[in-house]
Order: sequence, then C-alpha cells, then structure tokens
Amino acid sequence: MKILIVGTGYVGTTTALVFCEMGHQVTGLDVDDQKIEALQAGNLHFYEPGLKELLLKHIQTENISFTKNIKEAIKNNDVIFICVGTPRGEDGRADLTYVKNVAESIGKYMKEYKVIVTKSTVPTGTAELVTEWVKSAQEELVLFDVVSNPEFLREGSALYDALHPDRIVIGTTSEKARLTMRELYQDFQCPIVETNPKASEMIKYAANSFLAMKISFINELARLCDRLAININDVSKGIGLDHRIGPHFLKAGMGYGGSCFPKDVNALLQTAGASGIPLTILEQVVQVNAEQSLYFINKIKQALGGDLTNKTIAVLGLAFKANTDDIRESQSLNLINRLVQEQAMIKMHDPVVKLADPPHGPFCRQFQTVAETVSDTDAVVLCTDWDEYKQLDWMTIKRLMKQPYILDGRNMVDKGKVEALGFHYTGIANY
Ligand SMILES: NC(=O)c1ccc[n+]([C@@H]2O[C@H](COP(=O)([O-])OP(=O)(O)OC[C@H]3O[C@@H](n4cnc5c(N)ncnc54)[C@H](O)[C@@H]3O)[C@@H](O)[C@H]2O)c1
Repeated sequence: MKILIVGTGYVGTTTALVFCEMGHQVTGLDVDDQKIEALQAGNLHFYEPGLKELLLKHIQTENISFTKNIKEAIKNNDVIFICVGTPRGEDGRADLTYVKNVAESIGKYMKEYKVIVTKSTVPTGTAELVTEWVKSAQEELVLFDVVSNPEFLREGSALYDALHPDRIVIGTTSEKARLTMRELYQDFQCPIVETNPKASEMIKYAANSFLAMKISFINELARLCDRLAININDVSKGIGLDHRIGPHFLKAGMGYGGSCFPKDVNALLQTAGASGIPLTILEQVVQVNAEQSLYFINKIKQALGGDLTNKTIAVLGLAFKANTDDIRESQSLNLINRLVQEQAMIKMHDPVVKLADPPHGPFCRQFQTVAETVSDTDAVVLCTDWDEYKQLDWMTIKRLMKQPYILDGRNMVDKGKVEALGFHYTGIANY
C-alpha cells in the first residue's frame, strides 16, 4: 500500500519506518525543509534509539522517500496519515491549526479516493472537523474517508512500542476504510479495537490521563510517606505487583512532564468543561502535579539551609525522561527556572540535549561532562533517569563538589551507599 506520512517528527518518522518494515511504500512529508533534508540524507533530526539504523535500511530498500512537494505526495498515495503536532493552545485546548492546514491541503490536491488517518492526538469530534475541512477545500467532489488511529508509543522506546503495540485502535464509520486499515495492520500481533472516531479519539486521552493519574497518585502518597518515614519505592513495588494495579507509572518523582501528558490532560479537561461534565479526579491530577515540583524545590531549599542565594547547583538531566532529547514541558527546565528565581547559579548537563540557547544568561551554563558540571557546586540535583547517572562515581564527584548534597528527583541513587561516602541525601520518600 502507498502511504503518505504528513509530519515527520517523533511519531511520524517512527510510524513511517514501521510501515516500511511491514513492506509498505512510504513517503514522509514535512513543512520543515531542514527536517526533510536531514531525513533524505539519512540523519534523524531528533534522538530516538534504534531509529537511525532503520532509516538507513529503508533508504537502501527504497521503501521510504521524503518530499516537500505536498501536491505530488497527495496525488501519489492511497492512505494519508496526519502526524503533525497538536500543542496546548492558550486556553488549554488542543491547537488544531496544523491538522486543519493538512486537511485543507488534502482537500485541495486530492483527485481520487483517499483514506485520511489522524494519528495526531486530537479531541473527540475532530474526525468530523477534518471531514469538513477537507470538503471545504475541495474544488470538485472527490470521495474520501476519515479514520482515527491514535498512537501510543513512548519516546525513548518508540520503535519497540510501534512495532509491538499493546493494541491498535481504529475509529471509523466507513467499512471501506476499516478494511484498508485492517490490511495495513495485518502483520501486527495484538488486539485491534474497532470503534467509531469519537470513541477512538477519547481512548487516547483517557489512556494518557489514566497514566498521569497513576503518577499523581504515587507522588501525593509519597508526600505522606515522607512525613511518616516510609519508603515509597517499597510501597510502589508492593502495590505494583498486584496485577490489577500493575507496576508501571508508579515511580514517585518530581511530577510528570513531556510533550504529551500535560497537554493531553488539559485538553481532556477542556472537553469536559465544554460539555458541562467536570472531571474532578483529573483536576486533582493536575493540581497534585503542580504541587509536586514545588514540593521538590522546597526539599532542595530545606536541605541547603533554607536560602539558595548564590548557591551553585548542578542539574543533571534536561530531557523530560531518559532516552529522548525532548524537553517539551520538561520538569527539569521548570525546576531550573525556579532555582534561578531563588537566586541560585545553575550548572547543567544532559547526555543528549544540547541547548542552543540556554535560559537565564549568566546564571545558567551547560557543560559537556558530569565532572565539569558538578565541580565547585553546593548540590547535585538529579532530574532525568539517564543510565549514565545511575552509574556515577560518587566518590570522585564528592571530591569535586564544594558541599556534598544530593537531591534526587528520581529516587535513582542508592541512599545507603552515598550516605556511607559522606553525602547528605534527599529523595522523594526514598528511605
Ligand atoms: N511524541 C510522542 O511521544 C507522542 C506519542 C503519541 C502521540 N503523540 C501525538 O502525535 C502528534 C505528533 O507528535 P510529535 O511528538 O511527533 O510532534 P513533533 O513536533 O515531533 O512532529 C510534528 C511534525 O509535524 C510537522 N508539521 C507541522 N505542520 C505541518 C504541515 N502542515 N505539513 C507537514 N508537516 C507539518 C512539524 O514540522 C513537525 O516536524 C501529536 O498530536 C502528539 O500529541 C505524540
């Protein structure tokens, strides 16, 4: 089948290459010329383990090609996947501008039947909007169907997740489009949930909101455990082994961030508000998450004597989680902003993220190595759970630091071990 992927970001590029693996002929298209040129040259414009190898493989097999020519791309392909961003708008709703632009281009250039698939995360009811936008841009009546097919991959393991999904969700009211989608996914070994577009769109928001809820649950519980000197990691393990609960998304930390959870939870709350059915649990999820980052800042302040003025703090990790270079709504950057407000000086490090334009001018500098970053600092704050940070030589680090303080926003350090080396350690109910 000939597939067009519109939007070659984390989701679009991964989706494109996974369909190549399934033997389909795929074209990737983006409005960003630099991204297209990089991909054409076999270079990923973002960090995602394993994806570059697959890109090079399918440039060789000629299963993949990239173009900037939307008119030709729409003409030449049968199935069009919309994989563009749907960022948080000013009012908290998903901003559908990019989706609308693509839908209108499709309407303008299509000359024969197409299946138009929305893989971007979009609010319930968007398939109807896409239908209207396509129709309104058509110069002549050409038939098409719209399908909702949300994506559930995680950055950092995007390739594995897209090749081995827990389920595939297909939302359409068209039998013809349903058969096309079944054929497209015929080699995937997982349940397929077939439903209408509205339910399909809701499934994606419900999934992300539920996961965010687990994180806020454990974070709030961690605050109680901190007060009672109970190890939250043991509690997480003890409840996570119950198969009704499951072990995932139960790690206490600084609160969730990233390109999906904050915007998707907010978008669902907006949908709920507009429908007159408030989702009060989800409102609390957002509230607890906002409090959690403040909770951690206060722990840092307390550990360092209550005043951060002129303290030099090493922040390890800028990405919102390990194995990605994505810093969208990263808790780490949020924390840096607050530390700078408290008059602290920041030295920062990330194994992958290199900030072209670091925030806060002279108060904030990025370093290449952990050793340079921690030198002459009053505290190390661990923000991202990179493997590199799990294997740090704390003895050497202590020699480089001015004061031996560790603030662990990920509960990733062995408290007993570093305390034995003479560190003052503070985690999130990590005893
Ligand atoms: N990143 C994730 O982990 C993830 C997981 C599941 C779902 N999603 C959803 O998938 C969608 C895409 O997310 P992403 O992280 O890949 O975003 P991204 O920002 O990495 O990629 C989006 C791409 O779309 C391009 N684009 C914008 N307008 C365009 C247009 N008119 N024509 C062609 N290209 C255009 C941008 O240049 C960009 O390269 C979002 O709705 C997101 O919520 C993301």
